[in-house]
Amino acid sequence: MILGNYTLEVNYMAIVWKSNGTYTGVGEEPGESLWIQKEYRGEQQSRPSLEGNISAEVVVIGAGLAGVLTAYLVQERGMSVVLLESNVAGGGITKNTTAKITSQHGLIYKKLMTFKGEELAREYAWSNQIAVEKYDEIISRLHIDCDYEIKPNYIYTLDNDLRIKQEVEAANKLGLPGTYTKETTLPFPVKSAIRFDGQAQFHPLKFLDRLAKELTIYENTRITEIRSDGLILTDKGSAKGKKIVIATHYPFINAPGYYFLRMHQEREYLVALRCKDINKSIKLDGMYLDGDQQGYTFRNYKDYLIFGGGSHRTGQYNPMDSYAKLEQAASKWFPDYEISHTWSNQDCMTPDSIPYIGRYSVNYKNLFVATGFNKWGMSGSMVAAMILRDMIMGRKNEHQNVYDPRRLMLSGSKVLLKDTGIISKSILKELLKIPHDNYKDIEQGKAGVISHHGQRVGIYRDKQDNYFFVLTKCPHLGCSLEWNQNELSWDCPCHGSRFDYRGRLLSNPATSNVYDACQRRRK
Ligand code: FES
Repeated sequence: MILGNYTLEVNYMAIVWKSNGTYTGVGEEPGESLWIQKEYRGEQQSRPSLEGNISAEVVVIGAGLAGVLTAYLVQERGMSVVLLESNVAGGGITKNTTAKITSQHGLIYKKLMTFKGEELAREYAWSNQIAVEKYDEIISRLHIDCDYEIKPNYIYTLDNDLRIKQEVEAANKLGLPGTYTKETTLPFPVKSAIRFDGQAQFHPLKFLDRLAKELTIYENTRITEIRSDGLILTDKGSAKGKKIVIATHYPFINAPGYYFLRMHQEREYLVALRCKDINKSIKLDGMYLDGDQQGYTFRNYKDYLIFGGGSHRTGQYNPMDSYAKLEQAASKWFPDYEISHTWSNQDCMTPDSIPYIGRYSVNYKNLFVATGFNKWGMSGSMVAAMILRDMIMGRKNEHQNVYDPRRLMLSGSKVLLKDTGIISKSILKELLKIPHDNYKDIEQGKAGVISHHGQRVGIYRDKQDNYFFVLTKCPHLGCSLEWNQNELSWDCPCHGSRFDYRGRLLSNPATSNVYDACQRRRK
């Protein structure tokens, strides 16, 4: 099939694009976070890939914060540990977080008391409060220079005072340091807020880089198979572990575990603002978050104000969910500021707002998982590391029950039902819905979906008039990818895999590019 200067070849399921133009490109992601700027992080360490066959008592897969902390705490107890990372250490979610270390996770405690009962709510509360203190202990002991600052954390409301009062009551009942206030340093009035003292903020990659120096990490090493005897095959070599931890953001093994049936992903957008006149810059006394799901997040880092929001389910793109909304709000509240950096993040969400930490599945006692941090990955990673360390050492952790991946989730049944509906609709769309776009009508800088020999083909036309073709069938489990104009990516509404406009994998649980998937089928 010839499309202007492009040749679209479809063999079985495979699509190959051939461009006669020269791609001048915009990069896979729209922006880079403040944390990876060299002036703040310093020189990034480079680490080797796996070579040959190795073995260790514990193999941790995924060198984000959860994996690195788990490896560090286990190694501290005298066990041999190696980490395997498909990209670079800290190169996934850790580099994009707001890096607030807090046990205050939105207005969660009233909800947990109601749906989980006081005992489990207390386990959740205290595991996170201990995690906050554990950061302090590690940073002090190792003298880690990571811009660590102890600050209060606030959850505010613009209109629902009752929710704040109920949250203060629930937090206090659980023994947490929550106080009611109407005073904040935000540039707009709030109705009220709950304040937790003794929380903290830091530079996540400076912290991770320091811990990583203590560890054996193999980067750019992609797992291809995990066997029940603990043998892990990769594209570079193999590793054998008596215990294996999967800390890869979204677990990539579908069965057993079936995490894809009980977790979706959400995107959030962030900007760093810098004041044009340093005398007018706003110094917040702490970290802030709106109690409303759709609200904003605020914190300072050096002379910057990190400002974010516009959260939405991955694959359900709405232009006013993202940078446009942030820009509009920033110009109203911070007229003397300009945007210096933009970036986005993606989080795994569980139906009951509690992470999955523990045994990956009942049938595999030496395989562990940490995932589903519901946007609270700093304290969640530390909680996971402490629980998994104890489980690996054969000890019971006093807070492990509430995180049990096999728990019943009556409180999340509505969310589970909604997730199932979205998955069924997306699979049916991919199988049955015939797209009617015409490639000629796609504007420059935009995308559309055409039908070609009965298959849905996504097309992005860049501003230099190059066309990029992808199959819209997600290589994870076959849902229909949706175009995200904000980030020029194809996103999956089912479990949140993402691909750039060329079809290259950006986020798991998919483990291959759209093209790779096609080629495998062709063999
Ligand atoms: Fe699971 Fe796409 S991420 S089907």
